[in-house]
Amino acid sequence: MPKKLLTIEDLRFAAKKRIPKLAFDYLSGGAGEEKNIYRNRASFDNILLCPEYIISLPDREQKVKIFDHIYNGPIGISPMGLANLIWPKADTILAKAAKKRNIPYILSAVGTSSIEEIADIAPNNTWFQLYVPQEEHICFELILRAKQSGIKVLVVTVDVPYPSKRLRDWRNDFSLPFKIKPSLIFDVLSKPQWLTGTLKNGTPRFKNLIPYMKDAFKGKSLSAAQILQASPNLDKALLKRIRDEWDGPLVVKGILSPKTALVAESCGVDGIIISNHGGRQLNSAPSSIEALPYILEVLQPKTKTFIDSGIRGGEDVIKAFAMGAHYTFSGRSFMFGVGALGPLGGEHVLDIFADEIDRILAQIGCPDINVLDQKFIWPPIK
Ligand SMILES: Cc1cc2nc3c(=O)[nH]c(=O)nc-3n(C[C@H](O)[C@H](O)[C@H](O)COP(=O)(O)O)c2cc1C
Repeated sequence: MPKKLLTIEDLRFAAKKRIPKLAFDYLSGGAGEEKNIYRNRASFDNILLCPEYIISLPDREQKVKIFDHIYNGPIGISPMGLANLIWPKADTILAKAAKKRNIPYILSAVGTSSIEEIADIAPNNTWFQLYVPQEEHICFELILRAKQSGIKVLVVTVDVPYPSKRLRDWRNDFSLPFKIKPSLIFDVLSKPQWLTGTLKNGTPRFKNLIPYMKDAFKGKSLSAAQILQASPNLDKALLKRIRDEWDGPLVVKGILSPKTALVAESCGVDGIIISNHGGRQLNSAPSSIEALPYILEVLQPKTKTFIDSGIRGGEDVIKAFAMGAHYTFSGRSFMFGVGALGPLGGEHVLDIFADEIDRILAQIGCPDINVLDQKFIWPPIK
């Protein structure tokens, strides 16, 4: 492990030096005053684990089974749109890491690699994340493409009924194609590795959406992508039709309230991802880990409950499992890794998580991540 890159925060710091400000702000920023991003971290930090010793623990297990697939670790990669803008080839770097280390990689509908490309790289590890655009036929065509590519798990993101107010992007005049101005030229020239990679690989495009974009820029227009990303018509009836169309496991992402969780469950989904989109949608939303107990209370045990938003290390994964989550995901942790280390970044992040999880399981006297429960949270249950 590189000596100075021991934590996700170290990677964030290193990535910031290599990614242009415009793209780093897009990656790091959130909705409004970004209180939700801080709340995500504060909520995890406020949970304590219960140290337990005098227990024989020669090995600790991290494998987790979801939807009949045994993954090597308890953390997967959340979908991130425009990944290749943040770092050249980020989508494929992450898909390769997911395949090699056998964890799930969720490709975004507004990703910069196509469903077909990514499914080819990581056939058993790619999940596909769908937005439900106003023009319904696009949604069902994307579902068909995912099916034909052999994708097994479909994730429908529901927390973008309308684009949120991301102040950093607005202040930076963030758009695609780029608005060329002196500050942008200075910004990209000061990040030579990013610039060389981007010149070599070409301007990132919304590869999944090119056939449906009426823009003149052949899939490069951010505003066209935002129209396709917002899901203003998504209701229960439409979710049920998606359910009918998709034979495999169906997961709904972006749930924070028990009421919405119950609606999703009543449509026959197999799982949900409790998520506030990494603080990118609603400034005054609860953190995901705060929402978790309320949601678990109402859902049937057979509905798989996953979580993301704010997870930045092994402790957070352990806390989420101990609170009842069946799996965890992170977005930015992985992208900070790729920004800092390029092709080695995805696996390096997985190394950090695996190492921290193993050490923490030893500290709390737990032989297997799958047996974590409330007993491992402080204060001790009598
Ligand atoms: C740069 C970026 C792009 C994102 N794009 C998408 C997307 O296309 N679809 C989606 O469902 N969520 C998207 N998200 C949200 C992530 O899937 C995930 O919920 C979030 O990153 C988790 O929080 P974390 O970054 O604190 O780990 C994006 C997040 C980031 C940071």
